[in-house]
Amino acid sequence: MKRLLVTGGAGFIGSNFIKYWLEHHPLDRVVNLDALTYAGNLENLTSIDANPNYRFVRGDICDAGFVVQVLESEHIDTIVNFAAESHVDRSILGPAAFVETNIRGTFVLLEAARNYWDKGADESRFLHVSTDEVYGSLNQGAAPFTEQTAFAPNSPYSASKAASDHLVRAYFHTYGLPVVTTNCSNNYGPYQFPEKLIPLVVINALEDKPLPVYGDGQNIRDWLYVEDHCRGIDAVIQSGRVGETYNIGGCNEIRNIDIVHQVCALIDQMRPSRRPKAELITFVPDRPGHDLRYAIDASKIRRELGWEPRYTFEAGLADTVRWYLDHEPWWSRVRDGLYHQYMELQYRKS
Ligand code: NAD
Ligand code: TYD
Repeated sequence: MKRLLVTGGAGFIGSNFIKYWLEHHPLDRVVNLDALTYAGNLENLTSIDANPNYRFVRGDICDAGFVVQVLESEHIDTIVNFAAESHVDRSILGPAAFVETNIRGTFVLLEAARNYWDKGADESRFLHVSTDEVYGSLNQGAAPFTEQTAFAPNSPYSASKAASDHLVRAYFHTYGLPVVTTNCSNNYGPYQFPEKLIPLVVINALEDKPLPVYGDGQNIRDWLYVEDHCRGIDAVIQSGRVGETYNIGGCNEIRNIDIVHQVCALIDQMRPSRRPKAELITFVPDRPGHDLRYAIDASKIRRELGWEPRYTFEAGLADTVRWYLDHEPWWSRVRDGLYHQYMELQYRKS
């Protein structure tokens, strides 16, 4: 039986992960430590509220005393670090929070784990959840990122994640902390905060609002359904080699403009209306420093751990659009006053 501390478990991937974990490892204990920033939402976890093996604690990963107290009182043997500021556009508008949470917060967690596990925890493991964005941007035709690709982050978000990855690596080499890092491509699926491309486009289309496409829409991301990411993290926790990094990705390279068209087609089909939703597509000024292309070579995790994505993009996207159609109360509540302020600032030039 494991005793997990999941940080950032009230966010998009973290909440999917906690539910996935308790379903597949029902005897394990999961403590969710989350600061509940604008992106954290306990409504994502109502289905497990009554599970006696689950506990939520509100707190900041930058608060060393609090983190140590949770590790000790809960006898944690596995840390899964999702907590982060995660949106590139927000990092351009205000990078300070990214440096604070993503870099200093990871440092605080590493220090707490080092001191606590030094006192003799066996079978301990620190899994750091990171992104393919640390590798920078690929030109068309360039080979996908492998675990050997040099880091070349281009946004304050990816730079802060790269810095945290380096700290995690250093704690293995210097102190022997049992770390593993995953670098995953763009996720999509239920409970994603509607500032990210896919939920934003779904919700705007439902409300007949413009569908903002940055630049010429030719940028490419490698999309992975969130449940496939959760299974990859599970495989790395169970069997990944300590000190290693594992790339996780869907082999699903798609241009932004094609995604937006696919979402429009799905909504036209699932909720027919007079005007095709694609008429709402609006090209807006590009994101500064916008990375052209990300693509993951996931052959290491496939080969070593037998991980494979189970969802095709077509099936995962259809499920996701259906989920947003069926969960209007969820996304209506998520969009509180702070979110509206951000949307005003982000799209004021368009
Ligand atoms: P998210 O923004 O939806 O959730 C982040 C969560 O962290 C929120 O619940 C928030 O309240 C919490 N949090 C933020 N600052 C905190 C702090 N100081 N202390 C405690 N909790 C804090 O993010 P997500 O999309 O679920 O991403 C989770 C992780 O996965 C991040 O580390 C991100 O870099 C990584 N990742 C995301 C993607 C993606 O496509 N979304 C892809 C690869 C990797
Ligand atoms: P996003 O979901 O923000 O993820 P990331 O920047 O981490 O890849 O964006 C995915 C892609 O969609 C990215 O190339 C930027 C683009 N995009 C738009 O074209 N319009 C939008 O309104 C948003 C939010 C993103």
